Amino acid sequence: MRLILLGPPGAGKGTQARMLEEKFSIPQISTGDMLRKAVSDGTELGKRANACMGDGQLVPDEIVIELIKERIKEDDCAGGFILDGFPRTIVQAEKLGETLAEMKLGIDAVVDFEVDVQELIVRLTGRRSCSNCGAMFHDETRPPEKTGVCDRCGGELHQRLDDNRETILKRLEVYKNETAPLKEFYRKQGNLKTVEGRGSVEEIFSQVCALIS
Ligand code: AP5
Repeated sequence: MRLILLGPPGAGKGTQARMLEEKFSIPQISTGDMLRKAVSDGTELGKRANACMGDGQLVPDEIVIELIKERIKEDDCAGGFILDGFPRTIVQAEKLGETLAEMKLGIDAVVDFEVDVQELIVRLTGRRSCSNCGAMFHDETRPPEKTGVCDRCGGELHQRLDDNRETILKRLEVYKNETAPLKEFYRKQGNLKTVEGRGSVEEIFSQVCALIS
């Protein structure tokens, strides 16, 4: 199964992608995670990406397209994958379509998460993630048992640099202008499925599973 998770920052794409990864044993591919790793490793690509990410802007298309083209050809993607945060522009979606067509593959479903802006801001300002295993928490709605410590692996929890109010507002604006048009792009292709992204994580997961099965 090959899935795309679409939705604004904080819509729950990463949370749901990790659950889908576990249930269906196919990898979650997050361009955000790949770029953050490149930044922390100090690679050339990371240096190019860093300024855009810190400012809430998109990283240039050619960088992420190249990352994804390489990644989806890896062995663990043979049985499918979950794209989380890619594509984010029409150009990225077109290039993805071309790459998959060359591999004689297609996308099975594009799941779009709809959440209102006020809720997104609350979710992002309170988000904490584990620097070791990537598990996601929230100060109010999903707090860890011990403040600052991951329940799953004991790793240290941190706040993303782009999760401050000013950058969040920029990211939401970029989403509206650059990424939201993808809904129409995939609706025309007939594989867009919309999920009301409010409700418990488990309720949303059930909805997603029902839509894609
Ligand atoms: P990226 O890392 O992809 O961030 P994003 O799209 O902004 O999405 P988020 O990770 O912030 O949110 P999410 O939808 O995954 O929500 P989550 O599950 O974490 O991108 C970061 C940057 O990298 C971009 O700004 C850009 O610069 C660059 N980039 C990445 N991909 C790119 C691309 N393709 N092209 C160009 N540039 C690219 O949940 C959020 C919080 O809400 C958590 O605390 C969680 O616990 C909580 N939560 C989740 N679900 C629920 C629920 N149902 N109820 C209550 N709380 C919930």
